[in-house]
Amino acid sequence: MISKEDINKEEMPKHIAIIMDGNRRWAKEKGLERKLGHKAGAETLEELANFANDVGVKYLTVYAFSTENWKRTEEEVGALMMLLKSYVDKFLKRASTNNIRVRILGNIEKLDASLKASIEKIVNESSKNTGLTLNIAFNYGGRDEIIRCVKQISEKVSNGEIAIEDINENIISNNLYTAGEPDPDLMIRTGGELRVSGFLLWQLAYTEFLFVDKYWPDFSKEDLTEAIVTFQNRKRNLGK
Ligand code: FPP
Repeated sequence: MISKEDINKEEMPKHIAIIMDGNRRWAKEKGLERKLGHKAGAETLEELANFANDVGVKYLTVYAFSTENWKRTEEEVGALMMLLKSYVDKFLKRASTNNIRVRILGNIEKLDASLKASIEKIVNESSKNTGLTLNIAFNYGGRDEIIRCVKQISEKVSNGEIAIEDINENIISNNLYTAGEPDPDLMIRTGGELRVSGFLLWQLAYTEFLFVDKYWPDFSKEDLTEAIVTFQNRKRNLGK
């Protein structure tokens, strides 16, 4: 059985991104309501965030709600909002003990006022934590992020803060939600689909991809360990 001792601490991926797919299919196969699939997914996320923190990953970015997910039924959208709220509230209580810093990637302006307040609280209160940075992509879309970035840079150009000829990769990176963070080394998508679905379109340019044929609620610490070891073996082969 694989264990965290199999991970080479010298070659840790600094940043892992995950598309947590397959919650509904997991629930359906078990004859459960959709929202219970998402609830199980939230539990998996907490366990894996703690594990990633424990083994020394510095950034974990997870796709929790896309700009497209508003098209789901009102009931399912409501369940996902409630989950985020309870996740954020519970997480807040534990954040100081596990030293995890939480950030949100996406537009939270239109979320319910109490959800928005909870998010702002956890983001502020955990901002000095020095362990894992957990980026929760919520109401996030990669094209949306790029549009926002272009608007921010255009504004700086029009008020004379930067010149057009000075626009470079750094300026673009620094105007994305992930400003100041390294790009992901490894992107994992569970659930068997082979797509990027608008996730981190700029940031994934040189990232290693791993597609896993398991539903997210079944993705375990051992699976994450295996993914990290696979990544490390790919890196070793590239160096030869
Ligand atoms: C994709 O599976 C998953 C989502 C759209 C939601 C992901 C949310 C969580 C893992 C839990 C919530 C955590 C927080 C912090 C809010 P799917 O619903 O598309 O499943 P399917 O591919 O089987 O249809």
